[in-house]
Amino acid sequence: MIEFRNVSKYYENTSTDAIKNISLKIRNGEFVFIVGQSGAGKSTLTKLMIAEQKPTSGEVLINGYKVHELKRKEIPYFRRGIGMVFQDFRLLENKTVYENVAFAMQIVGATSRQVRRKVPEVLSSVGLAAKAKSYPGQLSGGEQQRVAVARALVNNPSVIIADEPTGNLDPTISKEILQMLAEINKNGTTVIVVTHDKELVNTLQKRVVALDAGQIVSDEERSGYIETAFLS
Ligand SMILES: Nc1ncnc2c1ncn2[C@@H]1O[C@H](COP(=O)(O)OP(=O)(O)O)[C@@H](O)[C@H]1O
Ligand SMILES: [Mg+2]
Repeated sequence: MIEFRNVSKYYENTSTDAIKNISLKIRNGEFVFIVGQSGAGKSTLTKLMIAEQKPTSGEVLINGYKVHELKRKEIPYFRRGIGMVFQDFRLLENKTVYENVAFAMQIVGATSRQVRRKVPEVLSSVGLAAKAKSYPGQLSGGEQQRVAVARALVNNPSVIIADEPTGNLDPTISKEILQMLAEINKNGTTVIVVTHDKELVNTLQKRVVALDAGQIVSDEERSGYIETAFLS
């Protein structure tokens, strides 16, 4: 369960009210799109979820944690329960596909035996078993994003948060990545996908939360395309 209670975020350096008094509940196992135009506050919302930003006021509750109250040293452990995927993949260029995914396990203290068992399994699940020895620079954008998804999945998170995961990908590949996230969701993982791509939102009938200027302007189940969310 993810809950925002009257959350606001003001960025002092830019004098921006990025999030304005948002209350939101996402149940375990849900698939939710967060949509809205550039600057609406979507990324800020995800950063509040992973304790990368602290709210100016209000409460953020995830997996029983009061995220807004986490101390710096508590954050790494909290983040193990959450997998992140970004628009720019953020892979380590000097590590192979296998090593990128293994590294995510090693930094949380997995044994080499656990790594040897789990990494091939996760790479297979994203269709990349044959690319284990490749470096990110040798892969297409879609393949790199699959590696990023594998890395996000490898520690069995209860939540996957993808911030514009298809922003650098063409439409066909974008749909494949989205389909993969939908499959992951079917297995019980909560999935949150941030996007401003309405085509993509329309390919699945899922809940859509629309942000505009830091506020939720609509929140509908199985809605697909929402007009207000994409006003510019
Ligand atoms: N780290 C930051 N410092 C200052 N201002 C920021 C920061 N991050 C975002 N903002 C501002 O907050 C607003 C919302 O940004 P963001 O959450 O990135 O929106 P989105 O992801 O929907 O494009 C924008 O006006 C942006 O300039
Ligand atoms: Mg953003």
